[in-house]
Amino acid sequence: MARVLGLLMSGRKHGFTSGLLEAALEGAASVTGVEVETVQVNRLAIDPCHSCFSCIRRETHDCVQKDAMGADGELMGRLTQANGWIIADPVHMWGPSATCHLFIERCYPFLWSGTLSGMPFMSVSCASNQGMQRLANEIICKWAFTFGLRYVGGVPVHTTYLAAARQHVGELGRRLGEAAIEDARERRPVSDQQRFLDYLDKPWSALEPYLQNLTNGTMTYEGSLIAQGLASFGRPEARALLEEARAPFQQALEHFHAGNQTAATELLVRASALWTHATWREFLEEEVIGTRVPGAYRPIEGGQQEAPRSQS
Ligand SMILES: Cc1cc2nc3c(=O)[nH]c(=O)nc-3n(C[C@H](O)[C@H](O)[C@H](O)COP(=O)(O)O)c2cc1C
Repeated sequence: MARVLGLLMSGRKHGFTSGLLEAALEGAASVTGVEVETVQVNRLAIDPCHSCFSCIRRETHDCVQKDAMGADGELMGRLTQANGWIIADPVHMWGPSATCHLFIERCYPFLWSGTLSGMPFMSVSCASNQGMQRLANEIICKWAFTFGLRYVGGVPVHTTYLAAARQHVGELGRRLGEAAIEDARERRPVSDQQRFLDYLDKPWSALEPYLQNLTNGTMTYEGSLIAQGLASFGRPEARALLEEARAPFQQALEHFHAGNQTAATELLVRASALWTHATWREFLEEEVIGTRVPGAYRPIEGGQQEAPRSQS
């Protein structure tokens, strides 16, 4: 049996968004062997993340907060037992709702455990006024990427075309159900590189935004955070990681400017993993988090996992 979990972010139990979720779940349930369940996340007591970083330090990577999304909360078990999630979200303030953002933020422990890597996922973003459903859909896609979710699809909906959208969402729900059956047989976690490559044709792809991020909007090595970090980072082990990141990062930029998306992505995966390990060493490890980078998080493929520690 495969389980598909519908996560309703709207406060309106019988509104437009819930109607779309129903259509998606009907599609999923039409696949033999799939059972579906709905949770109205909007009505659960969920606090924002307290930034205690216990989920990184604890070997079990679970959350210590005492609410619906804590380790013993009513939601966490259902989330981890699912073989597929459907997020149905109303568009609020030209983007995803606060409930959706809160939920995603509290999924932070899954970054460290890698639990969600490879799990099938779809979303629906429903607007009925000015819109911005496409932007909301992109943002939810970006969040799905961060966890390495297997992105079956995302549907930006405006109620102007609600009937057609219901049909589309139902079909996607069926595809999610099929993917959930495979997931129940065996979860297939995605490698870091595969995740970046898989999202190249999705509503949100990491390649260009990440290059914009690392170059601080300049799209040049000279203007990049890596060049700046090499001038300002104090810890030798962090600087060593940046040194290692320099060449793949420069090559990633060259390939991007030449239009070679796949090669640029492969190089960026390596450079950005080194970058995140370097910042961890420089800013987070001792003062903030108190532990090394968990193994499931941004492994440095084809190289050393971490630079040797300095003796000082
Ligand atoms: C706080 C708030 C902000 C909203 N912002 C937008 C918006 O930016 N664009 C839009 O088209 N609709 C907006 N709406 C309307 C919702 O998108 C609308 O309720 C939507 O169709 C979701 O369906 P539901 O409320 O029936 O679940 C907003 C509603 C609320 C409560």
